[in-house]
Amino acid sequence: MSLSKALNDAINAQIGREFGASLQYTNIAAYCDSHAFPKLAQFFYKQAAEERDHALRFIKYVVEAGGTVEIPAVAAPQSTFENVAETFRLALQWEEEVTRQINHLVDLAVAEKDYQTRHFLDWFVEEQLEEVNTMDTLLRIATRLGEQNITLLELYLPELEEEE
Ligand code: FEO
Repeated sequence: MSLSKALNDAINAQIGREFGASLQYTNIAAYCDSHAFPKLAQFFYKQAAEERDHALRFIKYVVEAGGTVEIPAVAAPQSTFENVAETFRLALQWEEEVTRQINHLVDLAVAEKDYQTRHFLDWFVEEQLEEVNTMDTLLRIATRLGEQNITLLELYLPELEEEE
């Protein structure tokens, strides 16, 4: 097995957080859906599916590297929100936190001279740049529009999705 116990444990914890992100985005999508923001709902359902794919990407890597997959308990997501802007703020904070977690995994891989895992993590390093940027853009547009005009935000979504 090429994966150390420390990295294996850290990746298993990250798998739980990726599934947690998937649940959080699903709950945000449901909130948007029930407040008549159909495109935003679609956008967040898609984000939720991407987070599940992130978890699977880690799972497949652990298997390939001869490690042991142990999916941890996943906390319930936040399900009530003041408004749409709050969901973007939460998503942005989440993605910034994930970026720190991915960086920590990279630090561990580098410290262990595990260049295989270091290389594998590059995809996530790039992905986080995009995810933080997307949520930051959404939050800035929502802030500029204000709560009264927030419905107009749905007009921006096709462009944001093209960037992904
Ligand atoms: Fe899997 Fe949005 O980080």
